[in-house]
Amino acid sequence: MTRFKSFIAVSITLLLFVGCKTLPATPTGLVTESAMVVSAREEASNIGSEILKKGGNAFDAMVATEMALVVAYPFAGNLGGGGFMVYRKADGTTGALDYREKAPLSATKDMYLDSLGNVIPDMSTVGATAVGVPGTVAGIIAVHEKFGSLPLKDIFAPVIAMAKNGIVVTRKQAERFETYRDEILKVNGGTTTFPIDAEAGDMVRYPALAKTLQRISQQGRSGFYTGETARTLAAFIQQNGGYVTKEDLAGYEAKWRTPIAFDYKDLRIISMSPPSSGGMTLHQMFKMMEPYEVSEYGHNSVKEIQLFTEAARRAYADRNYYLGDPDFVDIPKEILLSDAYLKKRMESFSFDRATKSSDIQEGNVQMAESMETTHYSIVDAEGNAVSVTTTLNGAFGSKLYCDDLGFFLNNEMDDFSAKAGVPNMFGLIGAEANSIAPEKRMLSSMTPTIVEKDGKLWMVVGTPGGSTIITAVAQTILNVYEFDMPMQEAVDAPRFHHQWLPDVIMFEPQGFPDGLKDALKLKGYHLNEDPTPIIGKVNAIRVLPDGRLEGGADRRGDDTAVGF
Ligand code: DON
Repeated sequence: MTRFKSFIAVSITLLLFVGCKTLPATPTGLVTESAMVVSAREEASNIGSEILKKGGNAFDAMVATEMALVVAYPFAGNLGGGGFMVYRKADGTTGALDYREKAPLSATKDMYLDSLGNVIPDMSTVGATAVGVPGTVAGIIAVHEKFGSLPLKDIFAPVIAMAKNGIVVTRKQAERFETYRDEILKVNGGTTTFPIDAEAGDMVRYPALAKTLQRISQQGRSGFYTGETARTLAAFIQQNGGYVTKEDLAGYEAKWRTPIAFDYKDLRIISMSPPSSGGMTLHQMFKMMEPYEVSEYGHNSVKEIQLFTEAARRAYADRNYYLGDPDFVDIPKEILLSDAYLKKRMESFSFDRATKSSDIQEGNVQMAESMETTHYSIVDAEGNAVSVTTTLNGAFGSKLYCDDLGFFLNNEMDDFSAKAGVPNMFGLIGAEANSIAPEKRMLSSMTPTIVEKDGKLWMVVGTPGGSTIITAVAQTILNVYEFDMPMQEAVDAPRFHHQWLPDVIMFEPQGFPDGLKDALKLKGYHLNEDPTPIIGKVNAIRVLPDGRLEGGADRRGDDTAVGF
């Protein structure tokens, strides 16, 4: 071969290689032509998808899916909690809705401390004292008012029918009922109308919930925040020693917010702004990783885990100190998100040796055992996308179940920093920015996210997992973008997590060989070697180049993609 010919041959090979690299991975999840809902239960995804089929848009489907999860997934789906939604309309406009719970009017900074200034165990996590003012109904009504296209009654009809006619308990659900049975009974005075003894395969009905849903369907916001529901709810919470009043309920408003948006290489990532830390922490982490050739390190390799951990360590340190409800605290957003600041933050990073978080002992903070929040992703036939994470905080929230209304109440007050420096149930250590004040929203980690590539919708993604939400979302995006995985594989891939304090990397049980862990230890990393829970339950949608959609419904749960 002449030199010219070999030059051509090499060039063609290179071109083919580069060409292949830009070809997206072959889907392994459900692929549909035009629309999809991915949520924690098939029944909820079905109801959302049916609304889309009837001509509803992604926002109508959001209302339907959110309400269907109250019935199908009471573990986290809720009327008594709150959440965040990020959207991107087909025309490229984006926005976000904050329907996070608020502290009641009577709340005080020290409300969970005893006379010696110590945090009173369980007070912010179990029972009525833990309950923040619920935001979910205000959220869905705000969405429906602004973007809905079908009448509220039509959207609610299949959900109310499901609550009345019943839904089958899955094996995973029955296991959760069993796990939390005694605690739920204890909090509710020994009895509950919640079907806590149901077994896998049983059909369970929620007649009281059906009536509550009916009132919301007919009266909208007032079906929950004033009138019969509000009266019953406020009286119930107060009888149980909690703080939420009728005034708290009547005064609750969801808030439209501007999402956090930033570029990572040729992606544009749009995520939730404060009072969630999700978007800002994601922004910081991705920008800290951007200068590196992440794809060359290999998925879950020592180098990738190091880089990711060091970015997470620095970003979570800022999260815990600076972030809180933007209506109450000045967040130095410009600085925290500036390229210069983030570059400087990473100057201390080296692949040779772990950075130390602080002198706090590792491993003494219990991580949550399971994934009690829930995320769903929706794309409609027009190309509108909705990304929603909604929660009661803990499993079945505060465990307090209102028999008359048929739903659980949140324990979101624990997401505040009850006392500076004392970790909450996710081991997150907060500061003044996240201290308690009347009507303030507690800092969240929920990270509903939408990603554009080349200016077009590319991914809708999010997950439960408390403090691990942000890292799980980041790893899912990296899996597809840097490691060429299809959506389903990216969701199923084993995950790891670091959050600054405690200074440990935690790993899911499978997928991280001993050799890899030994290599990290040699570099000075502390590993959480206890049996670790799963990290996140991601539900995502990827848009393929031909416009079809690939679902990623997490194998870790009953999560299911449905579409057409
Ligand atoms: O808003 C937050 O960050 C938490 N309340 C989310 C809780 C959660 O994801 C529970 N799952 N482990």
